[in-house]
Amino acid sequence: MARIFVSCILPGDGVDRLAREHDVVVGEERIGVRGDAFLRDAATFDAIVTLFNDRVDAALLERAPRLRLVANFAVGFDNVDVPSCAARGIVVTNTPGVLTEATADLAFGLLIATARRIAEGDRVVRSGAFTGLTPLFLMGAPVHGATLALVGLGRIGQAMARRGRGFGMRVIYASRTRAPLDVERALRATYVDLDELFARGDFVSLHCPLTPETRHLVNAARLAQMKRGAILVNTARGAVVDEAALATALERGPMGGAGLDVYEEEPRVHPTLLTQGNVVLTPHVGSADRETREAMSRIVADNVLAVLAGRPPLNPVAA
Ligand code: NAP
Ligand code: GLV
Repeated sequence: MARIFVSCILPGDGVDRLAREHDVVVGEERIGVRGDAFLRDAATFDAIVTLFNDRVDAALLERAPRLRLVANFAVGFDNVDVPSCAARGIVVTNTPGVLTEATADLAFGLLIATARRIAEGDRVVRSGAFTGLTPLFLMGAPVHGATLALVGLGRIGQAMARRGRGFGMRVIYASRTRAPLDVERALRATYVDLDELFARGDFVSLHCPLTPETRHLVNAARLAQMKRGAILVNTARGAVVDEAALATALERGPMGGAGLDVYEEEPRVHPTLLTQGNVVLTPHVGSADRETREAMSRIVADNVLAVLAGRPPLNPVAA
């Protein structure tokens, strides 16, 4: 029987399945590997199940010499020092695929909500300021016929492209690797470089991982390239965007608004973003639909059970 630390309660039956075969310790929500439940017994755990806000770095690995597996309850794994894990023979796994459609749903929701000022409209109605229809009131940006510009055309980027096509949008994309021609054709997505992408997009939506290359990919210079009135959507990782530069651009233009699910220093949000009417904010809930979260929990359990039984992981990540 192995010992497993799980960062906090997970939806679905993933943790129960682990507990049927192993000794499981569940940590505190929002504290995870920073809490006593982990720190006190770190040297005894064979596997840990981490969330995006659990930082797995060399210092943590030093305290956990028995560790064989880090199973991240997320597709993004920028919170894990993968090279340090590899150097110690520790497997790292993630949850790709099952959350693709849910995250694209949220990204497209943010796009429409920002363009059509849904959150602003909600505030107006609730405050009692809706005193009757007038033709100029709360006019937004058109979605149909607009250009959707995607950074990253992986799983979620492609799902976003499909939604864009369904809404009659033109789709352009930039990515580290150009997608195969059959994928481009099926999505009717045109490959461009980042300069053209930021200059042409009515909506720029980010779908790349956070890496040293993508940190602050959206900086003051990129924001200045955006069209007047263009909208930025970020469901990738907060630090792909220089949040202070975004706050300034939202105040001064030329961009028109932003729909954000992720932030540079979560759960802190740049104060300017909180006061801007042209910004729609959600609290990192990209994958948070019930079925998706239960599927993520299943994948985590499958990976942990496989590795602890000496079988290969189902979803290993590479540095
Ligand atoms: P994916 O399938 O690996 O797609 C990532 C795409 O980004 C790939 O096309 C990749 O190109 C591209 N890329 C990598 N480095 C790049 C760079 N320097 N410049 C431009 N493009 C680059 O991943 P996914 O499943 O779509 O997930 C994407 C990200 O979404 C995750 O890493 C995570 O951070 C985020 N996410 C957030 C939520 C949320 O709750 N908000 C939920 C799920 C995921 P290559 O083909 O060259 O690798
Ligand atoms: C969530 O942010 C994920 O990467 O799955």
